[in-house]
Amino acid sequence: MAIVTGAGRGIGREHALALAREGAQVVVNDLGGSLAGEGADATPAQSVVDEIVRAGGEAVANDDDVSDFGAAEHMIQQAIERFGRVDILVNNAGILRDRMLVNMTEDEWDAVIAVHLKGHFAPTRHAAAYWRERAKGGETLRARVINTSSPSGVFGNVGQANYGAAKAAIAGFTVIAAQELQRYGVTVNCIAPNARTRMTEETFGDLPPPEEGSFDPLDPANMAPLVVALSADDAQDLTGQCFFVWGGSINVLRPWDAGELLSAEGRWDADELLGQLKERFPEGAAPAGMVAMMGKAGGQSMRVG
Ligand SMILES: NC(=O)c1ccc[n+]([C@@H]2O[C@H](COP(=O)([O-])OP(=O)(O)OC[C@H]3O[C@@H](n4cnc5c(N)ncnc54)[C@H](O)[C@@H]3O)[C@@H](O)[C@H]2O)c1
Repeated sequence: MAIVTGAGRGIGREHALALAREGAQVVVNDLGGSLAGEGADATPAQSVVDEIVRAGGEAVANDDDVSDFGAAEHMIQQAIERFGRVDILVNNAGILRDRMLVNMTEDEWDAVIAVHLKGHFAPTRHAAAYWRERAKGGETLRARVINTSSPSGVFGNVGQANYGAAKAAIAGFTVIAAQELQRYGVTVNCIAPNARTRMTEETFGDLPPPEEGSFDPLDPANMAPLVVALSADDAQDLTGQCFFVWGGSINVLRPWDAGELLSAEGRWDADELLGQLKERFPEGAAPAGMVAMMGKAGGQSMRVG
């Protein structure tokens, strides 16, 4: 039994359809608002439910706001009441309010941090409490949380201080949740997807559409096999990882890692430290930028210019 948040459109919809094809009962969560997170509409979630049911699967719609702690609990409860259990939680819902840092408003910051970061914490928190109860009751669990980070978060993208900070935090949250929930049999991973959806129309809109019948690296359905694979019982020992996905390229990213060590016998003298830093980094040190890093992660399939 799987819950997919933000599954009324885009990448989440494909996750929900793929999990249903694998036989999972699905809660299709979606608030149905605009790209900026304004308004609400029950239609997107219901249409995905209808699609799953027409194909012979089992699904129910849910329109809870994932950034609301109580509503997220209601969503988990609805799944348990309807299907008797929860095995998989895919946190995917998201919005965008891009703006350069110097112009960003408090609302633009708060809304994006809320939907993404709190919108990952709240459902995970309630599902985790439920799984802990079951584990304490003596069950051996093979439960899954799959989070959604972004190249913007793990590599850093100009104009997305709010979104990228939330997505970097989701990658950090994934590592900590993986460590905490391992003892209950719950794995926690995250994906950094790339797909043509309403969220990326501006970014990817210029890319030439694939020739008829050829593979489209930006099809949102390309993300779903990873979610299905990580959800399998056999994936029990894969946890705390962040997967960059571009078409057929899946890069298991290295997390923050130990790097250049500068060591002194005692406390550093600031002038000496700066001298050593300049010596160690003769060209200086600065982020490579998201596009360069995406190329490095996706290899030859990278086409964003
Ligand atoms: N498309 C990409 O290339 C790309 C790249 C990196 C990360 N992502 C991430 O992938 C996820 C899916 O994005 P998408 O591209 O499919 O966009 P999308 O806008 O098509 O889908 C997001 C869905 O989330 C829903 N949603 C928004 N706020 C919600 C809330 N508070 N509660 C419940 N549902 C809510 C929306 O109604 C929408 O249907 C997002 O987390 C996004 O940040 C996408």
